[in-house]
Amino acid sequence: MIKGVIFDLDGVLVSTDELHYKAWKQLAEDLGIMNFTKEDNYLQKGVSRMESLEVVLNKGTKLYTEAEKLILAEKKNSCYVDLLQELSTEAVLPHVVETLEMLRAQGILIGVGSVSKNTPLILKRTELEQYIDKVSCGLDITRSKPDPEVFLVAAKKLGLQNEECLVVEDSAAGIVAAKAANMKCLGVGPEYRQLEADYESLTLQSEVDWHTILQG
Ligand code: BG6
Ligand code: MG
Repeated sequence: MIKGVIFDLDGVLVSTDELHYKAWKQLAEDLGIMNFTKEDNYLQKGVSRMESLEVVLNKGTKLYTEAEKLILAEKKNSCYVDLLQELSTEAVLPHVVETLEMLRAQGILIGVGSVSKNTPLILKRTELEQYIDKVSCGLDITRSKPDPEVFLVAAKKLGLQNEECLVVEDSAAGIVAAKAANMKCLGVGPEYRQLEADYESLTLQSEVDWHTILQG
């Protein structure tokens, strides 16, 4: 029996993926890496900022020290945070608010499980805070997806057993993390068919069979 649903943030609740892509592409071009593509960006989905930086640097030939890498990650984040200032309720993905309201009405607890350290800012700017019971994000963890830590922390904050939680994810790393946390998962987003989730849907549309899913 599912008592809590833990949503990934980027690409599941909000459409921030394009902004991440823009900020990484800008950094790549500043470093002379002109062939950073959306396919490369796919490898960054669900993984931490520093691991995402490695995806960019692997496209070039230059080697950087750890101190230089921290500066580069900070540079990308500053560009990303600038882009986030434009974020509003319009960035909330289709069917999200109806889904959160429907789950809450059934007494299901709502968590967010995202490795993004910008999670609080994004939830505030998109006005999604009001629907969320507990947030587990990059500020709470030391290991990024596919490690299950972010979902384990979310379950703990919600006061639930791991197997009482369902994860909603759009990244392969997130689905691996959910399974490692002993949680069932619903895969959504453009790559939903490749995710090997327990349940699948392109979007959080009304046809998602929540009745069956919540039976666990
Ligand atoms: C994830 C994104 O949600 O957050 C990744 O899918 C991103 O692409 C990661 O690298 C970390 O985000 P932030 O905001 O802490 O740099
Ligand atoms: Mg995501």
